[in-house]
This record gives sequence, C-alpha cells and structure tokens, in this order.
Amino acid sequence: MKNILVTGGAGFIGANFVPYFIENNPDYHLVNLDILTYAGDLENVKEVENHSRYTFVKGDICDRVFVEELFSKYDFQDVIHFAAESHVDNSISGPEAFIKTNVLGTFNLLDVARKHWMSAPNQYKTGYENSRFHHISTDEVYGTLGETGLFTEETPYAPNSPYSASKASSDMVVRSYFHTFGMNVVTTNCSNNYGPKQHNEKLIPTIIRKALTGENIPIYGDGKNVRDWLYVLDHCKGIELVFQKGKAGETYNIGGRNERNNLYIANTICELLNEMKPKATGKYQDQITFVKDRPGHDLRYAIDATKIETELGWKADENFETGIRKTIAWYLEKYIYAL
Ligand SMILES: NC(=O)c1ccc[n+]([C@@H]2O[C@H](COP(=O)([O-])OP(=O)(O)OC[C@H]3O[C@@H](n4cnc5c(N)ncnc54)[C@H](O)[C@@H]3O)[C@@H](O)[C@H]2O)c1
Repeated sequence: MKNILVTGGAGFIGANFVPYFIENNPDYHLVNLDILTYAGDLENVKEVENHSRYTFVKGDICDRVFVEELFSKYDFQDVIHFAAESHVDNSISGPEAFIKTNVLGTFNLLDVARKHWMSAPNQYKTGYENSRFHHISTDEVYGTLGETGLFTEETPYAPNSPYSASKASSDMVVRSYFHTFGMNVVTTNCSNNYGPKQHNEKLIPTIIRKALTGENIPIYGDGKNVRDWLYVLDHCKGIELVFQKGKAGETYNIGGRNERNNLYIANTICELLNEMKPKATGKYQDQITFVKDRPGHDLRYAIDATKIETELGWKADENFETGIRKTIAWYLEKYIYAL
C-alpha cells in the first residue's frame, strides 16, 4: 500500500477528487491535509470519513516542521497539491494570505518532498524512483484574452490579480525543481470549475442561492466576461490521468471547450430553476441585477486542451448545459434545507 498526500482535500475540487481517487486506486492510502479555512469543510468529504484507506489531518502547509513530521510519519510516495487561497475577490481585499499559502506553502511541500525522495539532484532514493509531485494550478496565470485566441501551454504568463500572481509564482517554483533538481513534477492549469461542493461565495452557487432566496442576483459589470467552464468531475479525471501518465516536467491545460459569459450562466441557471423549482409568481430572471465590476476583471479565459486530449486521451464528458443541470440538482438538495 502506498501513501499519497493530498492537500486541500476539504475544499471544492479536492473534496470531489478525494473520493474519486480512493475509489479508483485501491493500492493507495490517501492522507488529506487541510487547515480548514473558511473554504474547507469536512462535510465535503463525509462519504469517505470512515474509509479504511483515508485519513484526515488538520494542519498548515506553511508549517515546515509539521510537514516534515507528516512525511516521516506516513512516508509519502506521492503528492497532489490542491491547497490554496482561491478566491480572486479575497485576493484584492487581503493579498497577503495568498502569497503565504500559495507561494510559501507550495515551496514548503515541494522542498520537503524533494528531501524525502531525493539524495542529490537527479538522484532518487531507492523506493522513490516513481514518486511524483502534482501541482494544481489555474488558467488565470496566463492573464486575459480578447475576443479570440486560446491559452496553450506555450502562452507566456501574465497574471493580473494577486491570486493569479501567487499561483504563477508557485508554478515557477515547481518548474524550477524539475530543471534544477530533476524532480518528477507535473502541473495542470485548469479553467473555471463548477459542480457540487463549491463554496457559497463563488459565482454559480451565489446565483442559485440568491435566486432561491428571492434576492437580487448580482452580475459584475455588463455580464460579458467569458470563462471556459469545466465540470469538476471532468477536472478530477484529467488530474488523475496526468498524475498517472503525464510526462515529468510538463504542464497540461485542462479546459472543457465550454466558453460561456456570466450573463448566459445566470440566464441558464434561472431557466433551469424555472423548470426544476418554479416560483409562485414570475421568473427567476427578474432578479438579475448588474453591480459595479471587480477591479482588474479579466475579460475572457479560454483553454486549448489539445495537448491533454491528444497525448493522454482526456476529454470532458459534460458540456455546460448537462453539467449545470446536475449542479443545480445538488444545490437544490443542499439549500432546500439550509435556506
Ligand atoms: N475552483 C476553480 O475553478 C479552480 C480553477 C483552476 C484551478 N484551481 C486551483 O485548484 C485548487 C483547489 O481549488 P478549490 O476551488 O478547490 O479551492 P477552495 O478554496 O475551495 O479549497 C482550498 C482548500 O485548501 C485549504 N487550505 C487553504 N490554505 C491552506 C493551508 N495553509 N494549509 C492547508 N490547507 C489549506 C482550505 O481549507 C480549503 O479546503 C487551488 O490550487 C486552485 O488554485 C481552482
């Protein structure tokens, strides 16, 4: 049995990944390390809490001594690193935590893993020859696009928010460990995820929640900002594939080829809610209101996923219209009791 460290597994994507990975990989015991910030919730991983190949540990990736002790205790063979401060709006009001967790925290994990697995540059200790560090990142590191064009793995980095700058920095540290130490690292840069277990503060849960409570549904600016939406389980499948088959030192973009603007997202959700949970009077669309735009709001992100599709055979199973229906069904269950 191999031990794998997954960080941030109580957050949105991590909590979708953890049960998926445990189910598919009977040769792994998974340790989920999460400090449980406001964004982490053990409810998200309730379905695996008593699983024999799962352990939860509360702790901070920025605490080097603690991370070293964890490596000694569990003798990790691999790491998949999700933990991060992830909300762009929070990085505008309080950027420091982003630099600390996303840059210093990633460095800590990477460096402790290197020392645990390697005796010198390009020299893995016996038993760790296949050990891999998989870093989860975002397409936001590439900056913004105009009306056309797509981000490829060759697109130069041009982060525009403190969040994306911190992720770009961590990607660079990971890259350097491949080139300097010959460490077996891979990075995946993913577009906007949506699906079950996402924090209330993010766009899609906010639209659904505000619709159901009868409040205004806030849309930034003119609602024309475009994101390339990916259903979270498709992302998890891509991560697992890159973790197992990706080439060391490479980066892979993961995106659903599902560009949609924010206004379309809000309208689609309202339309589906009209059908799935009709209002007594009127339509949910009546609640949509435009609010002052986010500073530095990138216009458009879109991913060219050709590399992961052709080299590793990945493809998104959901398009936005099928994935959003599943997502709404999940949130209806959640909110119906909570609101
Ligand atoms: N959500 C998206 O659309 C998206 C898209 C592309 C990439 N990503 C990346 O995927 C990863 C996961 O994103 P998410 O949306 O699930 O984020 P999230 O904010 O929902 O979850 C992050 C988790 O990390 C934990 N965490 C934060 N600081 C920590 C620390 N110092 N030590 C230990 N744990 C800590 C939190 O408690 C939380 O459970 C992030 O690296 C993010 O940059 C997210």
